[in-house]
Amino acid sequence: HFDAVIFDLDGVIANTAKFHFLAWRQLAEELGIHLPDEAESRLKGLERMASLELILAESDAHYSETQKQLLADKKNKHYCRLIETLTPMDLLRGAGELLEQLVIRDIPVALASASKNAAAVIERLGIAERFTYIADANRVQNPKPDPEIFLMAAQGLNIAPAACLAIEDAAAGVESINRAGMFSVGVGNQQELGEANKVIGSLNEFSVEDYFKS
Ligand code: G6P
Ligand code: MG
Repeated sequence: HFDAVIFDLDGVIANTAKFHFLAWRQLAEELGIHLPDEAESRLKGLERMASLELILAESDAHYSETQKQLLADKKNKHYCRLIETLTPMDLLRGAGELLEQLVIRDIPVALASASKNAAAVIERLGIAERFTYIADANRVQNPKPDPEIFLMAAQGLNIAPAACLAIEDAAAGVESINRAGMFSVGVGNQQELGEANKVIGSLNEFSVEDYFKS
């Protein structure tokens, strides 16, 4: 049995992957780069500058570091505009119910999101007060698959990593959880998330009784 749960945000709790993709696509269009639909899955869970590099790799043009920073800022403006429309309806299947069950059972919950917009997203989804601790993406030096952000979340909860169960939708995130020495649950398909200790199709399938004492 475990003592705490650490959640990834985008793609686990929040239906925001489509907004990240739309914002990147808008930036790509402005640069005359065509972003194919299949890029959406490759962008999943990738931090901001790594995502930009993936997009710029589709073009022959050269961009300086300063230009890249401006492009990333531009994408973020597009994204921030898109997430203004978020409401509790954009919680992914089972997320609201699971968070509620954990809170009822007094199980501490933390967030380990690479997104610098995480606080705004959980606020709009109406779940901000469910989290005991939020690992601050601004303070993380090494992006997922490095374990740093999950270890920061466990430390913030004051719970040993081995007593934490963590949930991710991206392969890099699952690797990060495994390297942190936590139990990993992947939300998505078995093929992509095969490294996880347990794979489920959606949070609806997660049963609290299996992992936590009542
Ligand atoms: C999460 C998302 C990625 C996003 C990254 C950085 O990992 O899954 O799609 O690129 O956060 O988010 P940010 O909001 O800081 O650009
Ligand atoms: Mg994710």
